[in-house]
Amino acid sequence: MLRTHTCGELRKSHAGQQVKLSGWVDKYRDHAGIVFIDLRDRYGKTQIKFNLEDGSDIQKSARSLRHEDVVTVTGEVVARPEDMVNPKLESGEIEVRVADLIIQSKSDTPPFLPSSSDLPNEELRLKNRVVDLRRPELQNAMVLRHKFTKLIRDYFDAQGFLDIETPILGRSTPEGARDYLVPSRIHEGCFYALPQSPQIFKQLLMCSGYDRYMQIARCFRDEDLRADRQPEFTQIDLEMAFVEQDDVLGVIDGMVDKILTDLAGIQHQMPLPRYSYADVMERFGSDKPDMRFGMELVDLAEIAGRCDFGVFKNTIEAGNRVRGLVAPQAADKYTRKKIDELTEFVKDYGAKGLAFFRVKEGALDSPIAKFFSEDDQKAIIEKLGAENGDLIFCVADTNAVSSAALAALRNRLGEELELYDPKAFSCLWVVDFPLMHFDEDEKRWYAEHHPFCYPHPDDLEKLDSDPAAVRAQSYDLVVNGYEAASGSIRIHDSAIQQKVFDLLEINPEEAERRFGFLLQGLRFGAPPHGGAALGLDRWVMLLCGYDNIRDVIAFPKTQKASDLLSGAPSDVDPKQLRELYIKLDLPE
Ligand code: AMO
Ligand code: AMP
Repeated sequence: MLRTHTCGELRKSHAGQQVKLSGWVDKYRDHAGIVFIDLRDRYGKTQIKFNLEDGSDIQKSARSLRHEDVVTVTGEVVARPEDMVNPKLESGEIEVRVADLIIQSKSDTPPFLPSSSDLPNEELRLKNRVVDLRRPELQNAMVLRHKFTKLIRDYFDAQGFLDIETPILGRSTPEGARDYLVPSRIHEGCFYALPQSPQIFKQLLMCSGYDRYMQIARCFRDEDLRADRQPEFTQIDLEMAFVEQDDVLGVIDGMVDKILTDLAGIQHQMPLPRYSYADVMERFGSDKPDMRFGMELVDLAEIAGRCDFGVFKNTIEAGNRVRGLVAPQAADKYTRKKIDELTEFVKDYGAKGLAFFRVKEGALDSPIAKFFSEDDQKAIIEKLGAENGDLIFCVADTNAVSSAALAALRNRLGEELELYDPKAFSCLWVVDFPLMHFDEDEKRWYAEHHPFCYPHPDDLEKLDSDPAAVRAQSYDLVVNGYEAASGSIRIHDSAIQQKVFDLLEINPEEAERRFGFLLQGLRFGAPPHGGAALGLDRWVMLLCGYDNIRDVIAFPKTQKASDLLSGAPSDVDPKQLRELYIKLDLPE
């Protein structure tokens, strides 16, 4: 071995030992003939010391070392004098006096230093990911990611799940994003689709009797990217046969319990709390509420309908909604200019404006306060549970717009007003999602999740009479406002499946073309089954306390789906295109 210890290992108890260390040259200090270098590897840093006064070539060569050179040193571990101890380094009680040095490789001047607190922009870091991946933040994320997948595999193994791989080259799957296509050379003009999820294959495995399946599955979706989305990401995918919703949630609860206890050391409620979709939409305006803080939305229809403020009154008369929320002790923190900024912010979510009231001496202070009687001002304050010094915001609009705008405002205010401990973890299930929604523009129904979700048994009759009111046996796991998992009980009964396809206007030919191989599988004896998939990258991001999914993926893609390191996607050799019968017709 080119080392006896790692750079994070030596302590005072090693003093007097001869050791060999290998690593990268990190910090470099030259103090009149004494050169101190922090030697770094992924385990930590150790200070090594050269004494140039001794005059030997080895000692003198210290001056030729540059940042990120890779070296192997041999020497004695020496306890540092009390006043030289560095409490910031775990190995800070010792240093290694170098007796021998091998320069394994020299580094070009790096574009930035992994230990620097002053990092360049992400583009430069992604282009130089080799150096970037030396940063402790990324190394911690990779270690946590490894521990996470190991814990999950062990957990599912103990529960009798089988890890089964499903194809990457396959047919389009029903998750609803755009597919990544791969042309076939052997079958002229035909394409594979990369899986958006293993959804259909895992259902087929249930039909084949593999009643507990799991896979750490790579998924591909060509969709608009955000900070919590990658075109290629990893799911912890699972499916179970002969189960009901409670059984699936119970298995995932057990897994989340292990993750939070073993990996994060976090106190939490078990089983994870469950809320209905209708409940969270009413109280938080979102199906993925961040419950690390309160600030619930409050319906003000009654007062709004009788006040003299035209915007509110007309909204209620049109059958729409006026709802508000309270920003605690924010009356003085938000100037008019800042409120104008918030007004622009909610407009991005479709709101037409943002009404605000400062609560002062038990009354409302606002340009529009005059439209509310003294009693109604008191009634608003009471309904919202507001106190002097609070700031009330209201949005009058359709249910959908008031929900979206106030939910976004709530998240923003929660963060700005520091209403929660950023290290806290709030996990909850949202259950009873609607089965489908009506698209007003296209005048047709669309599946809320995918067309295989089993309707709630109590709502089966409403499939004909009132499809919008049919709940699905589908569920999302929400962590700190992120959708961290999603799943459902699937339809295993062909009559119900047919009915759902009919409602979604998926005719038999289309159903056969898109999911024929699933429908055929379901025809040869399908057990009741259901499952879910967790977003592994999102989980690791949350556990690390990061807000960028790229920081937990070794080689991620940008928001424009490029890999800046390798330069993918790239053009290809015309010969490759000819072999695939592809002719390009690019826009000017
Ligand atoms: P769904 O499409 O909700 O369900 O995906 C499951 C979970 O995967 C994560 N996720 C993503 N993470 C990063 N980047 C993305 N682009 C991305 N898209 C989704 C989310 C999400 O909750 N087959 C079904 C699951 C099932 O019904 O069993 C499915 O794929 O955390
Ligand atoms: P206006 O009467 O349009 O000048 O608006 C007076 C105040 O009401 C402003 O603070 C607007 O931002 C606010 N406002 C306008 N439309 C709405 C709405 N739909 N919901 C909530 N507040 C609104």
